[in-house]
Formats: sequence, C-alpha cells, structure tokens
Amino acid sequence: MNKKIIPEGFLWGGAVTSFQTEGAWDEDGKGPSIVDARPIKEGQSDWKTAVDFYHRYKEDIALFKEMGFNAYRTSISWSRIFPDGEGEVNEQGLQFYDDLFDEMLANGIQPVITLYHFDLPLALAEKYNGFASRKVVDLFERYARTVFERFGEKVKYWLTFNEQNLVLMHPELWGVSLEGAENEEAMKYQVTHNAFIAHAKAVKALHELVPGGQMAGMVTYTTTYPHTPQPKDAIANLKAKELLADFYFDVFANGEYPTYITKDLERKGIMPTFEEGDAELLKQHTVDYLSISYYQSQTVSAEKVVGDNPLTGLTPNPNLKTNEWGWAIDPIGLRVCLKDMYARYRLPIFITENGIGVREELNENNSVEDDYRIDYLREHIKQMKLAMEEGVDVFGYLTWGSTDLISSGGQFEKRYGFIYVNRGETDLRDLKRYKKKSFDWYKNVIASNGEVL
Ligand code: BG6
Repeated sequence: MNKKIIPEGFLWGGAVTSFQTEGAWDEDGKGPSIVDARPIKEGQSDWKTAVDFYHRYKEDIALFKEMGFNAYRTSISWSRIFPDGEGEVNEQGLQFYDDLFDEMLANGIQPVITLYHFDLPLALAEKYNGFASRKVVDLFERYARTVFERFGEKVKYWLTFNEQNLVLMHPELWGVSLEGAENEEAMKYQVTHNAFIAHAKAVKALHELVPGGQMAGMVTYTTTYPHTPQPKDAIANLKAKELLADFYFDVFANGEYPTYITKDLERKGIMPTFEEGDAELLKQHTVDYLSISYYQSQTVSAEKVVGDNPLTGLTPNPNLKTNEWGWAIDPIGLRVCLKDMYARYRLPIFITENGIGVREELNENNSVEDDYRIDYLREHIKQMKLAMEEGVDVFGYLTWGSTDLISSGGQFEKRYGFIYVNRGETDLRDLKRYKKKSFDWYKNVIASNGEVL
C-alpha cells in the first residue's frame, strides 16, 4: 500500500530575511541597523539594494505562487518599525509589512515571521551595547507587542530569534561588543540569558495578544557525530551537541536551564544574573513548536578539544562531500537531528531553512541547470519523510532562499534560489528574475505534496 507520509496542509515554501532581500535600506523612515554599519569586504556587495524585494515583492510573490508555495518566511526589520529602536513607531514601516502580508495571503501564502534576524537597530547597539543590556530586552518586548497587535490576524507562525544558538559564539549578531569585559565568557552567558528572557517575553506577549498564535525557538542545527568509535569521542560529541543545540531547546521547551549548563557555570563562577521573576518567566512561557535551519554536519574529536570548550573539537567528516564553502552535504544528518529532537521534546518541528549555496551563471536559455540543487533538496526531503514515517511530527519545510539573495557573509555569488536574480557582487545590472531548472522541480514536489521527488 502506498501510504502518504506527508499530511494535507503541510507547509511548503522558502525562507529569507528582510536585510538579505529587501534593499531600500533607508527608505520610508527606516533607521540604520547593525547590518548597515558592517564593514564591506573588498569586492563584496553592500546591503543597500539586496534584490530590491521592497519594490518588487509583487512580482516575486507571483512567482512563488506559480511554484505553489503556501508559506514564505521572512523577518521584520525592527528599524523599519522603530527607526532608533526605542522612540516613535514608524507607520510607513508597519504599512510596508501590512501590504506585503496582504499580498502573500491574497496569493495563498502564509507569512512565517522572524522577529529578529541579526539586524538590531544601530542606535541600540551604540547606546546600550545591544542585548548586553536589559533595557534592550524591554525594547524588544515593546517591538514584539507592536507587531503582534498589528499583524496578529495575518500571521500565525512566528519565530523569536533566528538561530538563537549563535548568541554564545557570536554576540555581535545581537549588537554586543565584548570590549572592556572583565570576563568575556561570563558576559557571553549574560547576553545568552538576556536573549532567553527576551524570547520568553515575546512568547508570553504572543499568547496574550494573538489567539492561536504559534511561537518557536529556533536553532541552526549542525548534526555532530563522534569522529571515531572511541568512547572519548562519543562523550566529546555529546558535550558539543549540548552546547550547540540541546541547551537552547531545553530552555525553549522545558523552560529551565539544564543541569549540564548550570553545573558548569557554577563551577566557573559565571552564572548569569537572574533578575526577580526570570526563572518563572522561562518556566511559564515555553514554545509551541521547534524550528531549525539545517545545512550540514560535522564530527567531534576528543583529541582536538582545547581546554574545556567542546566546540574546539569540531572536525570535518572525511566521508562527506562539501559545497564550495566547505559545508558537508549530509541528508541523513537531517534525519538524525529530527529523530533526536522529537524523542527529546515531542513538539512539532518546522524546518525553516535548508539549501545549498553555489556560484551560478545564466546559460544561453536564460536559465540555470541546477541539478545539484535538485539533488541536495530531494535527498533532504527524502530523509525528512523517513523521519516522519518513523513518527516525527514535521509540519513544514522551507528552503533557504527562493530568489537568490545576499549570503550572511555578504556574498551575492553564493546563490541559493530557485529564481536567478540578475545582479553581480557589486554590479546591480537589471535585477531581473529568471527561473532555474529547480523552479519546475520544486513546483512538482509541492503539487504532489512531496510524493514526486
Ligand atoms: C543561516 C542564516 O545561517 O544560513 C541566514 O539564517 C543565512 O541568514 C543562511 O544566509 C545561509 O548561510 P550563508 O552564510 O550561506 O548565507
């Protein structure tokens, strides 16, 4: 019997961010964000125009509809809504997202919205050192409440922070400079704690303001394996996994810090300051679903671990091929991750990013024969289906990119889309859109609800 694994109503589409697609960096009252202040590397693109989604979203949404998307993830730019992060609300910013979400809904596409994707209003970084300050936590709550009130009827699925597990390794993405810190590790954990509190305040606000609103905690999931069959690699792998992913999911889903973290922080004397009510807030406001981005896997070698930081043991897997940027292609790693997450938390899972970045050129037929992308996505979807067959509750799959977009490191030539955008690294050309081969492939996947791969 050919039993259908993917249920009706499954969410299919793509995912992006405001700053990697919109452009219009200073239009209609938008304030600068920390992304706009990033130094641009020689020969790389700035963020000012991106793919001009701000002005071309109707054309793009028509193409997404043609592919059959029923969901599209993007982020709201905080500094469009509050240009300096804390003063007056900018009605033009709210209006842009109102119009955008209306256009999506009119085309049968649910907006899936990230509140924060690494683009803090610059003023909050300069004035308060970003999420190092509890003041910014409160301002985040105000921003979250503002957008829930305005868009709550249009948006059901929300995410607080993109890839919140990066906060410990990259506090700068939360607008934080560690300069002058007495103890950098202690400060990083304090920022991590502040992000958890901001997250929980947003979960609380959504549940108060939006009946049926669903909030996720999100992690970028790098599946890890012991580098060898030696038991010491197994334990090194476990410790790396705890720090890479479990810590965050444990707080999102269980509402408290796990003991493997508290014991370690107490021993080092760097437990973050919990203000009155923090522990209760975390406990009472857990998430409705879990969300991941998944691109790659690694191994962990005990021999390579430096000091007591298990993440220094991360090592490439010699058995796997990589993309040009060294990201190991491992579809089975997605199944490992889904099974582990579901066994631990029993919460529905939304895959909100998966994809491959490749340098590409338009061919003479104004298309790109991106069979490698089709292969990559097909194999990952197959593994997702196997996990679902084994009982894992996955309710949506979004690829990273839909049109091409600027990569997180500021490269345009690392392309992810089904739709080629005619621009170069610094040469904007005409920004015209062209369908790649994967466009029709994904269209068939969605039309058959994942049966035809
Ligand atoms: C995720 C981020 O880490 O991966 C995105 O949420 C990013 O912002 C994506 O663009 C792909 O990574 P990169 O570095 O290839 O752009």
